[in-house]
Amino acid sequence: MTLHHHLHSSPRDARSAVMLARLARCARIEPHVASSRRRVATKASKSSKMGRFPSTKSVENTPAFAAAPDIHGGLDIDAVVARWGASATIVDDICATFGVGGGGAARAKARELGTPRVLLTHKNENVYNAYACEIAAMTRASRSLCVGMFLAMGDARAVRHAAGLRAEIVPLFARDTAEALLADVETLRVTFSSHVNAPETAFFHDCVARHPHRMSSDALGAAFGRIVDSWGAGLSRARGDERQMEDVARFAVIESARGYVFGLVSYAPSSLSLRAVDWARKPQHFSAGTRAEIALACVNVAAAGCEAAFDVDSGSAALIDPCCGSGTMLHAAWTRGFAVAGGDISPGAVAMTKTNVGYFVARAGQSSTMPRAVERDALEPNAFQDAYGSHKRVGAIVSNLPFGRRVAIGGGDGDGRASVGAFASEYAPMLTAFRDAADRHVFISGVPIADDMRAMGYKNVSDVSLCRFGRSFMTIALGESASGALEPATLFSVDEALERAAGKKEKKWQKSKSKVDIAARFANPNALRIAIDVSYEQDSTRARRSVAKQLCECVGVSHRNDNLALTYCAWRGPIAEESREYFFSDRWDCIKKDDRDVEEVFAPEDIVYMSPDADEALDEVDASKVYVVGGIVDLATRGMRTSVTRATNAGLRAVRLPIREFKPEQTHTVLNIDAVVKILAARRSGLSWDETFERELPKRQKKERPKREKRERVVE
Ligand SMILES: C[S@@+](CC[C@H](N)C(=O)[O-])C[C@H]1O[C@@H](n2cnc3c(N)ncnc32)[C@H](O)[C@@H]1O
Repeated sequence: MTLHHHLHSSPRDARSAVMLARLARCARIEPHVASSRRRVATKASKSSKMGRFPSTKSVENTPAFAAAPDIHGGLDIDAVVARWGASATIVDDICATFGVGGGGAARAKARELGTPRVLLTHKNENVYNAYACEIAAMTRASRSLCVGMFLAMGDARAVRHAAGLRAEIVPLFARDTAEALLADVETLRVTFSSHVNAPETAFFHDCVARHPHRMSSDALGAAFGRIVDSWGAGLSRARGDERQMEDVARFAVIESARGYVFGLVSYAPSSLSLRAVDWARKPQHFSAGTRAEIALACVNVAAAGCEAAFDVDSGSAALIDPCCGSGTMLHAAWTRGFAVAGGDISPGAVAMTKTNVGYFVARAGQSSTMPRAVERDALEPNAFQDAYGSHKRVGAIVSNLPFGRRVAIGGGDGDGRASVGAFASEYAPMLTAFRDAADRHVFISGVPIADDMRAMGYKNVSDVSLCRFGRSFMTIALGESASGALEPATLFSVDEALERAAGKKEKKWQKSKSKVDIAARFANPNALRIAIDVSYEQDSTRARRSVAKQLCECVGVSHRNDNLALTYCAWRGPIAEESREYFFSDRWDCIKKDDRDVEEVFAPEDIVYMSPDADEALDEVDASKVYVVGGIVDLATRGMRTSVTRATNAGLRAVRLPIREFKPEQTHTVLNIDAVVKILAARRSGLSWDETFERELPKRQKKERPKREKRERVVE
């Protein structure tokens, strides 16, 4: 389906007319979209992950149906479905087949709400909960059938802007085996009586999950295809070409692990969301950016039911993203034709938003309104009241709030924590500032914030986890005027995700714990003894973080090598703190930590101190010695003979790795701590120096001269 065709589909009401007009502005990006489609098609792994379904324009605009609104003796889809709904079979069948509870209630709902549809979405388990929110917000009742499949009651056509929608299908039969389904479909008689020539028909099989007793795809295609062909003129066009499939009346069997559904394909957007594909081509990328699908889901949830109010030309409300980063939310809202503005405390982020969103706006042509982005601290009182100008009120705040390892509240670098469970309170200032600033709120956060929001007075709050291991969450507050909180049919709850996260950590910890016999390792006379001296003062947070990270890497090296007896000496002060807080050093179980200095822990005559500035080159690596590596990063050592001075002052023997002798082309000889440990271990395992360096010298340093080494060379 080309966008052009979509644009000329007849809008059912003024709202969709406005939306289509908005889309029309994007239509000018057609060649760009076509090329992205070509490119994506070559990526087999991605397309199989996303699931592919040939696109089709909406069934009302398919000649087979649109030309014959008054079908006599043929298939009037709404009438057929209404009959199924009224006789309570299809919804019940689906609920029974897929084990969804509440068949009676669902049936009543179906009667009340009209046509049920099966919605196919992309099969990404993590993003699925965001789709569930979108679908729940855009249709009045919906149920999750399995990953990638929803049953939506009511006007499922409302979800055609959903980020993950692959196809919308009017279900006609649902059975738990393909054979039973085939028997049902054989009873169906379909004619397109108003056509002089019968339209082309086509049959598709889409496997959401493999059925345990599946009918092979070939057998299924042959059996169902024969029936579907008999209803129309068969299919003469090439199936692979989506553009040629537009006018074809298409039927599909959806296979899942529990059962099969047969239905008419009533709508399928092109195989990948145009918006998502487009956004991936933005000029500037941001490590803390939001996934395009999630952003669109947030925007759709925020505007659901009052889309007209957000219309950029005629609406009275605007969406605001006060922490807009690279502009993903703004772009998502703009593609839907909504009035949207953003802000960020960081001037760089504001510039990035302008560049990224501006790139797409420019392609769409002059008629499109460029969303405004301003440099502003979201915590300022009334920061965004005027963001869209005085003629629109702030209808919704939609934002991926700053959190965790990448960006902090205040705009600076995040603090590196992967999990910030104990820090939900960090969000409090922003949540307080945003509460009364809009009617609706949709936030992405790194920890659950729904309870805090309820306590602060946000109304009709619900949340979902956007990751099976509880690393990010979407929280929705629909406000006072809503009839209730959103109840999406999620795949896993927030509590389940958090439990899984805790279980995963525990399991990992238990696993590593059970493997290591530290006493035996240190008692082994052949073990290679290495000590890391962390007594050095570090000159910056960055240096401390870097040393702690390298120590953590060494723990991994030690895990993989039973012959290594690794001791961290002078284990006190900032490095020990840093390691505990950010690298969970309490759980480092295959090394020893000693708060004494290295010369107190080991006999000084056994100590060989590794220093790039030493005169003597190391030859053999010997189990009777203890090799000490300085816990220092080269940022600090540049220009200073730090470790050799420390060794000499303490009367210890200092040696260097024989890089100069074996790798004269190597320009950079100040290695990371873990690299030195790996080299010593490799040499000890019996490799020659040549083999050792070939295997263990960092690859980058083998080939290129690092930038910093282009400066005056002070160290070896
Ligand atoms: C997670 S990022 C937003 C990502 C964005 N949605 C995207 O897709 O690029 C959070 C943003 O919040 C901004 N920020 C942090 N503190 C802020 C504050 N007090 N006021 C406004 N923006 C802030 C950061 O500069 C960062 O760009």
